[in-house]
Amino acid sequence: MNTIPEILINNELSMPVLGLGTWEMGGRQSPDTTEDSKWIHAIETAIGLGVKHIDTAAIYAGGHTEHLVAEAIKNFDRSSYFITTKVSGNNLQFGEVIRSAKASRNRLGIDQIDLLLLHWPNPEVPISQTISAINKLLDDKVIRYFGLSNFPVELMHEIAYYTDAPIITNQVEYNLFTRNKASYNDHIESEIIPWCLKNSISITAWRPVMKGDVAQANHPILVALAEKYAKTPFQIALNWLVSKPQMMAIPKMSSEQHIKENIEAVQFKMEESDILTLDSICEKSV
Ligand SMILES: NC(=O)c1ccc[n+]([C@@H]2O[C@H](COP(=O)([O-])OP(=O)(O)OC[C@H]3O[C@@H](n4cnc5c(N)ncnc54)[C@H](OP(=O)(O)O)[C@@H]3O)[C@@H](O)[C@H]2O)c1
Repeated sequence: MNTIPEILINNELSMPVLGLGTWEMGGRQSPDTTEDSKWIHAIETAIGLGVKHIDTAAIYAGGHTEHLVAEAIKNFDRSSYFITTKVSGNNLQFGEVIRSAKASRNRLGIDQIDLLLLHWPNPEVPISQTISAINKLLDDKVIRYFGLSNFPVELMHEIAYYTDAPIITNQVEYNLFTRNKASYNDHIESEIIPWCLKNSISITAWRPVMKGDVAQANHPILVALAEKYAKTPFQIALNWLVSKPQMMAIPKMSSEQHIKENIEAVQFKMEESDILTLDSICEKSV
């Protein structure tokens, strides 16, 4: 069994720096069951190789991805997996949050969701209402922890007024080539991450290997460092990510080779000078 390094969040929850993303396993917006056994096998393989954190969401494949996760985890001890799921930004009213979390819990076939994230903010719903639903889910032990995804600083700041529970993470699009201009947020590296660090909130990087974009992976600095450390460019990109404080990465990986490569990618240290070179690999537009 591989031991993936962990970070301690808010002095109370230890989480591995590498988890498994599940977007597009079993469909995009609606279920596609044609490759179910492939996806179940991928999730089982990852857990079997020591990847404990599985990231999914209520909207993935219209709920079907959560069913696939349920199928994959059923033969493992509860202690060998940690499930993060998300409530859609379209369902942030009080009753919708409660209903969505309970439906996710049912689909996942678990007694309690380890970590529930608000998938994206919704300016039409007062955040106080959403957080009061989160407080109820925590009190009723439907969820163990809560966190956010794609949230800007102003809203994170506001949330702290409505709950005593820690915000465990903010899951944002972040990788070597996406720093401050992402699909849902600007200023990730310049503002969101520093604010999270100051407030004991971890960061979860979604799209950490740039969706397998080989064109980006062919960047000459990545290629040179890959050669120096005898790793692949993707392993260098992942290693750079998890060299950052309180940072977790959740690549989607379905091939056993990628799972093994990514586990190996978080188990070595690059020299500080190489990390600095990678820091400046792309323009830090703010
Ligand atoms: N919160 C949000 O709004 C949000 C948005 C998007 C995604 N997410 C989460 O973040 C996860 C990751 O993002 P993503 O799936 O969009 O992109 P990603 O993880 O950057 O890329 C996934 C792709 O990269 C390939 N890959 C994985 N490891 C590799 C390696 N070592 N070498 C070469 N290729 C590799 C995978 O191939 P194989 O499948 O063939 O192994 C897959 O095609 C999602 O699955 C989801 O859980 C969250």
